[in-house]
Amino acid sequence: MARAKRASRSHPIRRIAVNTGGGDAPGLNAVIRSVVLCALNEGWEVLGIRDGYNGIFKPEDYPDGGLVPLNRTRVRGITHLGGTIIGTTNRGNPLRYPTPMPDGTVKEVDRTDDLVRALAAHEIDAVVAIGGDGSLTIANALARKGVRVVGVPKTIDNDLSKTVITFGFDTAVSFATECLDRLHSTAEAHRRVMVVEVMGRYAGWIALNAGVAGTADAILIPEIPFDLRTVAKKILRRAGAGRNFAIVVVAEGAKPKGGKRSVLEKRLGALERLGGMGEKVALALAEMTGKETRHVVLGHLLRGGTPTAFDRLLSLRFGAAAVRALAAGRSGVMVALDPPTVRYVPLAQATRRMKLVPLDCDTVETARELGICLGE
Ligand code: F6P
Repeated sequence: MARAKRASRSHPIRRIAVNTGGGDAPGLNAVIRSVVLCALNEGWEVLGIRDGYNGIFKPEDYPDGGLVPLNRTRVRGITHLGGTIIGTTNRGNPLRYPTPMPDGTVKEVDRTDDLVRALAAHEIDAVVAIGGDGSLTIANALARKGVRVVGVPKTIDNDLSKTVITFGFDTAVSFATECLDRLHSTAEAHRRVMVVEVMGRYAGWIALNAGVAGTADAILIPEIPFDLRTVAKKILRRAGAGRNFAIVVVAEGAKPKGGKRSVLEKRLGALERLGGMGEKVALALAEMTGKETRHVVLGHLLRGGTPTAFDRLLSLRFGAAAVRALAAGRSGVMVALDPPTVRYVPLAQATRRMKLVPLDCDTVETARELGICLGE
């Protein structure tokens, strides 16, 4: 009761919406469950918007409705499930919505005003937006237009500023590390160089953390443009010492010194798709070292499956903190992990700049000290 009162600074919250945007990440369902249960405790109704904001923009695509009522039954038994029960998309950003023009061309148009109107028409008093940089930039735009909104930082890439970690990252790193463990035995059996490409977009967090934890011989991250000659030397040095195999981790966004990232696709209304650097590195290393080389792309495997206990707990804490923030009358903020607690940071600050691996961080230093080649 007291909480509902605090929320009534402008008008009381009766109904909130939750949405999940961008690439999925393990822990999304745990956040949804937490938001729903905590909101129900506040006496609020909860709707899930399908596939980012598509449930609002294109209700005709959803015969069962673009807005899903979320109750206790709907969120039962989902904490450990990967994916998201309300769907997500990394297309259809309302700030750059692909819209057909009268002349037949398609242009990116800012449709946030339509979104604000639609939220009001559905009597949605507040939104919990779960997403990465793109989704939280949209959330910030909504907040600036007067919508009560709290963001929850999601991404396996861990590239969001102002939170020590995003949920989904721990699961991705744990799985990538397990893959590196598995690849060691086959690499050694065949005396091969195994090149492993991991996601992470423009940040090298997954590659660096999994690479160090999984005892890779070389790790190439976007923050350190690489020179493959140093990697080849390391491989040959190992071979000279009787270690006839090597594991090289390549972040999808890594690029050679003076060269470019490997981009697969760029579509209207969507971010560019990265990929292919693992294969390029493998081909070049095969030529430079004369060693049999294979490449593996872990790709979306890093996003699927059961969240680790760390990610589940973080997701549940983030969801509860988001509702707590709304109940306290907060808006325009993102929930952030600041151990041992969770705090709130303005969305504008959280989305201002990408969190890249600092070159002077101790994990980079540790990698160097352990003799891992960073392609420098
Ligand atoms: O941002 C999460 C992420 O998995 C990135 O690491 C990757 O570059 C991208 O999404 C892949 O997107 P998609 O699912 O569209 O292939």
